[in-house]
Amino acid sequence: MRYLLGLDIGTSGTKTVLFDEQGNAIAESSAAYPLSQPKNGWAEQNPTDWWDAVKETVTAVVRSSGVNKQDIVSIGLSGQMHGLVMLDAAGTVLRPAILWCDGRTASQCREMEQILGKARLIELTGNPAMEGFTASKILWVRQNEPDVYEKCKHILLPKDYIRYRLCGELAIDMADASGTQLLDVNKREWSAAVCSAFGVDMAWLPTAMESPELSGRLSPAIADELGLPAGLPIAAGGGDNACAALGTGVCREGKAFTTVGTSGVIVAHTDRVRVDLRGNYHAFCAAVPGAWHMLATTQAAGGSLNWFRNQLAAELSYKELDTLCEKLPIGAENLLFLPFLMGERQPALGIKARGVFFGLSAIHQKPHMARAVMEGVGFSLYDLLCKLQADGADCHDMMLCGGGAKSRFWAKMFADIYGIDIKTGASGEGACLGAAILGGCAAGVYTSVAEGCDVTVRTGKTYTFDANNHQEYMRFYDIYRDLYPKLKNSFAALNA
Ligand code: XUL
Repeated sequence: MRYLLGLDIGTSGTKTVLFDEQGNAIAESSAAYPLSQPKNGWAEQNPTDWWDAVKETVTAVVRSSGVNKQDIVSIGLSGQMHGLVMLDAAGTVLRPAILWCDGRTASQCREMEQILGKARLIELTGNPAMEGFTASKILWVRQNEPDVYEKCKHILLPKDYIRYRLCGELAIDMADASGTQLLDVNKREWSAAVCSAFGVDMAWLPTAMESPELSGRLSPAIADELGLPAGLPIAAGGGDNACAALGTGVCREGKAFTTVGTSGVIVAHTDRVRVDLRGNYHAFCAAVPGAWHMLATTQAAGGSLNWFRNQLAAELSYKELDTLCEKLPIGAENLLFLPFLMGERQPALGIKARGVFFGLSAIHQKPHMARAVMEGVGFSLYDLLCKLQADGADCHDMMLCGGGAKSRFWAKMFADIYGIDIKTGASGEGACLGAAILGGCAAGVYTSVAEGCDVTVRTGKTYTFDANNHQEYMRFYDIYRDLYPKLKNSFAALNA
């Protein structure tokens, strides 16, 4: 039997899983790291924290698996998208990474639209200027930290920095490259037009490859340190959502999934680029060569529940919170939550949107608030689902993954709110399994990404929606949806 390593460099931590070639998880390990918010709306991480977490989790997995290291045949990398890592000529990190959920670049986005024109920018990159994406962050550093910008020679995304540490190669996959806003998403190559318009030196950009391609081989010194064979193939890999798609078997038209990690994302697989001129969802390359994703993001999904528990209910485990919430009626006795703790991407909401509890009364206790947070995340994702479906995305075959999928209560809530049956994968893994599948392709274990998915992904549990519950949720969703347009100007005033 051959074994495949899948690594996911996430926002709350790094997870490493060793799978056998049939997709069974043999051993896993996670390590958390902090997210620093130097200002309201900013989000940064230290790339060396990711590297320490990779070393810790890979070593732990190799040691605890009992697998002979010669039987481990590949590494696949997945990671949080859009983050900006800047390196100097010697490969030294120049400043903390600016993350996908950082909202500091509103003025750079407006500038980008002026330089290239909104329509041309969307035509080339598949997306309107986005605060969370990498390009606007490069412009921000140029304007605000010229000394850092001066020294910059390489730009990488989070998982690509890990690749650099593992094998010394500067490479990226098409899916993550789409999220930089410097890729021509249609042609699947760096856009010279976009780079020259924004003054980004193309020599700074890593080599863009298709996700299952071989990007490099594990260097002997690191192999020794990690307890792995030297020369292990490392696949180009994918952004976490592109990898989660594969880990849930979403590799063909007609398939979709929801992931509830720090962010919440809905993805529909498409065989052609589908661009939304209004900016409600993104057009990204998929990890399947020649395919794309319609992808919509809510910034703080698991992140909202995590915030609530850490700040207000740290004495309760997530399981205990589930049990308490389950006893409450739909609508948490008339309490709503808008989960905009990190701003939002949809233009109707904007990066200046912030979280709101609406309808608080003296009757409400912590479980009401927790339930309202979960329902708010559900409504926010449902909102995105409606937008994707209105533009023809086929979302009836819906999978669920990410930390949120581990809660049966929350998973059933998603099915009821969506009014769609939802399935989880048997392995319970999303991004790590997808990364491992890509590693398996690079090592020749699978002949194609689709074959890798077919061999490894099995359906676990199905959550069947209840039509009465759906109707009841929709009563509250209507109020939820009505709230945020009314608050838009107030959010802007508050964050002026
Ligand atoms: C997607 C996005 C997030 C991050 C989180 O566009 O920004 O889902 O990838 O890890």
